[in-house]
Amino acid sequence: MKHISVLLEKTIELLDVKPDGTYMDGTLGRGGHTSKVLEKLDANGRIHVFDLDIEAIKESKERLNDERVIYHHANYKDFDELIDMKLDGIILDLGVSSPQFDDPDRGFSYRYDAKLDMRMDQSQRESAYDIVNTYEEAEICRILRDYGEEPYAKRIAHDIVVKRALKPIETTFDLVDIIKEAYPKKALSKKGHPAKQTFQALRIATNHELDSLEQFLEKFPRHLKKDGTCAIITFHSLEDRLVKRRFKELSTDNTDRRLMLRPEDIKEPDFKLVNHKAIVADDVEIEMNSRAKSAKLRVIKKEV
Ligand SMILES: C[S@@+](CC[C@H](N)C(=O)[O-])C[C@H]1O[C@@H](n2cnc3c(N)ncnc32)[C@H](O)[C@@H]1O
Repeated sequence: MKHISVLLEKTIELLDVKPDGTYMDGTLGRGGHTSKVLEKLDANGRIHVFDLDIEAIKESKERLNDERVIYHHANYKDFDELIDMKLDGIILDLGVSSPQFDDPDRGFSYRYDAKLDMRMDQSQRESAYDIVNTYEEAEICRILRDYGEEPYAKRIAHDIVVKRALKPIETTFDLVDIIKEAYPKKALSKKGHPAKQTFQALRIATNHELDSLEQFLEKFPRHLKKDGTCAIITFHSLEDRLVKRRFKELSTDNTDRRLMLRPEDIKEPDFKLVNHKAIVADDVEIEMNSRAKSAKLRVIKKEV
C-alpha cells in the first residue's frame, strides 16, 4: 500500500518554511513531508533527510530527484554528527511507513507469514527474533506491557519462554499462534487483532525507538537557529509524553519564582510552543487513513 503522509498540510504550515533555509527530515520514509518542504524552498534552500531503511532512501532518491536534498542512511538521533550547521527546521514523523508494514519479508506485520525480523535498518544485528528467542521472560513481559500496553503480557511472555524451549520461534505466524493460545477465549472475540500490541511492542524494542527519540530531544535545541522550528508527529502515548515533557521544559521560564528573583536573574525561555494542545487528525483524514487515528503533532519554535 502507498504511504499516505499524516497531518501533512498542518505540519508544513506550522514549520513555517523559509525559502532559503536549511531543513532536516529525520524520518524520510517515502518523502511525503520532504516533498512539501521542497515546494516551499528556493534554489538556495536545502533539506537533509535521514532514514534507517535503505529502501526508503533509494525510492525517495528516485522519486524526489532533487539536488537540494542531502541523503543520510543513518539514525536521526546522530544528526549532529552529520550536519555541521544550525537548522531552520526539523520534522520527525515517527514509526514505520506503509511499505515497510506491507513488505511480507520484513516481518513487521502479523498479517503475513515471514521470519521474525522488524529491523528498520537491515544492517543492525539484533532483530525481533533475538528478543523473542533470547530475552528473559521478565524483560519480554516488560516490553509487551510498556511498549504495547498488552493486557496479557505476562501470559504471552510465559508462553513464549515455554514454547521456545521446545524449538525456536522462527516466524510471525509462530508468534501469532502463541499469542492466540495465551489469550483468554472471550478476549479473542473482541475487536482488533490479538497480536497487534505485541507486534508494536517488539518493533519499538527492536529499533530502540524511544531511546532514539530521547537522545534527539536532548540535543536538538542547540542545533536550531533563531526562529527555527521543530515539528514532531508521534503515534504512541509514550513517545508523545516524551515530546510533551521536553517541549514544556524548554518553553517554561522561571515565572513561579519570579517574585523571589532579582530582575537580572529572571530568564525568559528560549523556546515557545507553537501549539499548546497536540494537533490531531480530523475525521476526514482518519476516514482516508486509519494510521492517522493515533497521530499527535507538537511544534516548538526557538526565540533566541
Ligand atoms: C512514518 S514513516 C515517515 C513517512 C514520511 N514522513 C512520509 O510522509 O513519506 C517513518 C520512517 O522513519 C524511519 N525511521 C524510524 N526511526 C528512525 C530513526 N531513528 N532514524 C532514521 N529513520 C527512522 C522509518 O524507517 C520510516 O521509513
